[in-house]
Order: sequence, then structure tokens, then C-alpha cells
Amino acid sequence: MMPGRVEVMIEEAEITKRISELGDELSRRYEGQPLTLVCVLKGAMPFFGRLCTAVSVPVWCDFISASSYHGGTESSGTVLVRVEPSSEMIRDRDVVLVEDIVDTGLTITALRERILEQGARSVAVVTLLDKPSRRKVPLVPDFIGFSIPDAFVIGYGLDLDEYYRNLPFIGLFVPET
Ligand code: PRP
Repeated sequence: MMPGRVEVMIEEAEITKRISELGDELSRRYEGQPLTLVCVLKGAMPFFGRLCTAVSVPVWCDFISASSYHGGTESSGTVLVRVEPSSEMIRDRDVVLVEDIVDTGLTITALRERILEQGARSVAVVTLLDKPSRRKVPLVPDFIGFSIPDAFVIGYGLDLDEYYRNLPFIGLFVPET
């Protein structure tokens, strides 16, 4: 475990309130449409769970697993897809990909293309956190929880070498020097 300390960046109550607002936004946007929420594992897991319960329109839920960091702190640029949603969850449906963070944008751009190839009627992206200053591809998420500066954030699903995903808030990791 890397030595360092954790500072609270976004408190749990603030996250809960914002997820409720995002749920309302999605419910308004997709009223009367066949919506599928796809959780991008593993980081989006807590956000996805709470967002599902904040959406009032009927939704189907599925999962996709992608990894580009391979244990490091910088995106490798290659997106490995390990788990795919089932085709009936995607074909002719409006799909919302649920992410914990959009950083370079490489992961979500690759996943968006993949879901479109699988016959989705539309694909949108909702992310809890957005780091626009880090973008390597021109991807703008359709729904954003919080826009944050370039800092190493952990918690609420986000990890550092697989640790800290269980923190109930978004934290800033300050390495020990
Ligand atoms: C993280 C995060 C996003 C992606 C964002 O996933 O959950 O999917 O990186 O980075 P990008 O915009 O630079 O592509 P990671 O590969 O660490 O997998 P994990 O969710 O299982 O931790």
C-alpha cells in the first residue's frame, strides 16, 4: 500500500445530493424511452448503484468491464474489454454508460464506439467526476457530477492499486515524501 494521507475532497452528503439531481436529469431526458444503464466496472460500482435508485423511469441494468490503467496511475492508452453487456440489453435501446471518472477520455470513447457497433439506438455518458484538463480525445460527457482539477482522487469506487474503493467520499491522495 503506497504511503500517504487522504484528504476529503467531496463529502458523502454532497455526492448523494448530486446523484439525486443526476437521476432527475436522466429521468426527464429519457421519459418514455427504453433506457439501459451500463456500469463501467469496477470504479463506477457505488455510483451506479445509487444512480439506479435515483432514476424514476424504467431501466435495464448491465455491466461492461474495461481497464486501461493496468495498475498504474497513467492511462496506458490500450483499452481492454473483459466483460460485455448482453446484446438484447443494447440493441435498439438508448444506452447510458455510467463512469466514475473521465480522465483522458480514451476508455469511454472506446466503449461508446463498441456499444454503438452493437446496435444501440443512442449512447450517452454520465460520469461522477470529470477531469477536462487531462483530455486526449475530444469527448464531452453528457451528464457530469463534478468537474475537478487534475489531482489523484480516490474513494467512492476509485482506487489506488485496488485500495480505497470503499471510502464513502471522494478523497485526495497525498503521497508521503
Ligand atoms: C478508470 C476509470 C475509467 C478510466 C478513466 O478505470 O474507472 O474507466 O480509468 O480514464 P481515461 O479517461 O483516461 O480512459 P480503470 O482502468 O482504472 O479501471 P477500474 O475502474 O477497474 O479501476
